[in-house]
Amino acid sequence: MDHILSFTGMLFIVPLALFVYYSGKHLHKNEHTYYIVSAIIALVATVLAVLAQIGTLGFSLENIPVLYQLIFQGHLTFAFFVLVMFAGGFKKKSKPKIALMRVRREMAILGFIFLIPHATFLIITALSALNPTGTIAFLVMIPLFVTSFTSIRKKMHPLQWRKLHKWAYLVYLMIYVHLLSINLIAQEDELRFVRAAIYTAIFGFYTYLKMKNYILAPKKESPKSSVK
Ligand code: HEM
Repeated sequence: MDHILSFTGMLFIVPLALFVYYSGKHLHKNEHTYYIVSAIIALVATVLAVLAQIGTLGFSLENIPVLYQLIFQGHLTFAFFVLVMFAGGFKKKSKPKIALMRVRREMAILGFIFLIPHATFLIITALSALNPTGTIAFLVMIPLFVTSFTSIRKKMHPLQWRKLHKWAYLVYLMIYVHLLSINLIAQEDELRFVRAAIYTAIFGFYTYLKMKNYILAPKKESPKSSVK
């Protein structure tokens, strides 16, 4: 059972993608309700994470295995960010791109909300193991999260907003290094190489899609070459 649970994040991408495909409109229309419900769940989970860390919880969070993996071990936030990432990877006007782009902002916001209990639960473990990769991803995400809300985005110049959100590439890289380093260095079970290979395949496929889009994109004429 533990073996399957260690793949929770990867497995959860599938139902989450199906939800986005079939219920994306509902999420988009009711985004604030989703944020409020998620923030309440994340807040309760964060309080539990703090109590678990200071040893006053009275039970082990691992007794609720699926929730433990999804919320406290970072698998839910990972699944959200994979979809956020691939929204930028698929070909323009393709069906998956349209479905993912419709709720990209919402998924990024929800992914960040669910990152908070994971970060709270494991920050001491991460920093005492001298692994700051997740923390770097988290810190870079803060301005991206804040400026994802439409009301704040509207106050920014579109070019300034786009320039700021290019930092998302550093976040993706840090998430990959986070997952790879944890599996290759920190974990000891026999399936860690399988997980590392799957994470590499996911991020490698995304890089391949981005490169392909970049190569196939019509080249913009520079102002110099258009002047004869
Ligand atoms: C302050 C930020 C973060 C901290 C302190 C942190 C800390 C950790 C630690 C210590 C582990 C290892 C847990 C263990 O082996 O028992 C872990 C695992 C994990 N983290 Fe993070 N993390 C952070 C950010 C992130 C981010 C941004 C993501 C993805 C969006 C993420 C996704 C995961 C996943 C999926 C695992 C499980 C990996 C596996 O078992 O294959 N974490 N994190």
